[in-house]
Amino acid sequence: MKNVILTGDRPTGKLHLGHYVGSLKRRVILQNSGEFDDIYIMVADAQALTDNADDVNKVRNNISEVALDYLACGLDPKKSVIFIQSQIPELCELSFYYMNLVTVSRLQRNPTVKNEIQLRGFKQSIPTGFFTYPISQAADITAFKANVVPVGEDQLPMIEQTREIVRSFNTMYKEVLVEPQAVLPENELCARLPGLDGAAKMSKSLGNCIYLSDSEKDIKKKVQSMFTDPLHLRVEDPGHLEGNTVFTYLDAFSHDEHFEEFLPAYKNLDELKAHYCRGGLGDGTVKKFLNEIMQAELRPIRERREEFQKDLGEVFNMLQKGSEKARDVAAQTLDEVKTAMGINYFKSNFLNK
Ligand code: TRP
Repeated sequence: MKNVILTGDRPTGKLHLGHYVGSLKRRVILQNSGEFDDIYIMVADAQALTDNADDVNKVRNNISEVALDYLACGLDPKKSVIFIQSQIPELCELSFYYMNLVTVSRLQRNPTVKNEIQLRGFKQSIPTGFFTYPISQAADITAFKANVVPVGEDQLPMIEQTREIVRSFNTMYKEVLVEPQAVLPENELCARLPGLDGAAKMSKSLGNCIYLSDSEKDIKKKVQSMFTDPLHLRVEDPGHLEGNTVFTYLDAFSHDEHFEEFLPAYKNLDELKAHYCRGGLGDGTVKKFLNEIMQAELRPIRERREEFQKDLGEVFNMLQKGSEKARDVAAQTLDEVKTAMGINYFKSNFLNK
């Protein structure tokens, strides 16, 4: 069996540091590992429209932003097929047949959908497209026969639902579809980078993000505004690490080499933490250090992004080529699906059957 990755993002905003540590960084490592036969990275514009039907422009404008973020992080169109979901009509067709394999009550039990319905305040007015997006997501994954889907934890119910659809289809018709496996971020810190304000998650709507496209100045300002320890009022006071976002970020990003380069008075994070807890270490010093690290991490990404941004035409060409390639693959799967179901009337020997 082939080793195939599919994953994607809704283009509802630029990607931020949470996306980067939670998934983009890993994707690039997987892409460059040489362990995969095919890699598909999808800009999920159709899924984004399921709760943004009245704001197509937002989705439209963010397609290139997300594509730029991908390229800036090191996703490489020579190694990965980067494409736009809405340009693959076969995905709709697959969804339509999969809908018959899923009950309304099963969708109602999907914890991610449940949670998102509440977050968006839909109450009784849930758009049908939104309600059924787990089925469309199963189409995204199965169209490419992906066996590996790198995602965040919140997407686990989607993968589970996809697996159920695959099993139903393969049992009811014929073994055509591949059951996917989710691949989660390596550790808790990567899975859930808190926002700058200490909120559980970085999220655009909370305005607590560092974007991959942020300027040096923006990053500095944002790091300076980060939530620390409200009890640490004077430098001499003992500081606390728990819930201290600056230290959470240091846990996620700092290496011993950073100390050598930017803060040689300490050997490593343990020493810095010990001093902070003892008292006598100001937040300003720690934030200055974190800023150096963030700048070092984000500078190459931003610079690559600016380079790609100079030629958006080329970015769209890349997306178009990727979409054409993706479409060929999805069409092949759809053909197998229809044959398995016995509805490929003009291709199979319909009259003899
Ligand atoms: N639901 C994903 C998100 O919220 C986007 C997505 C759409 C996706 N289809 C997918 C992810 C298939 C993995 C596999 O960003």
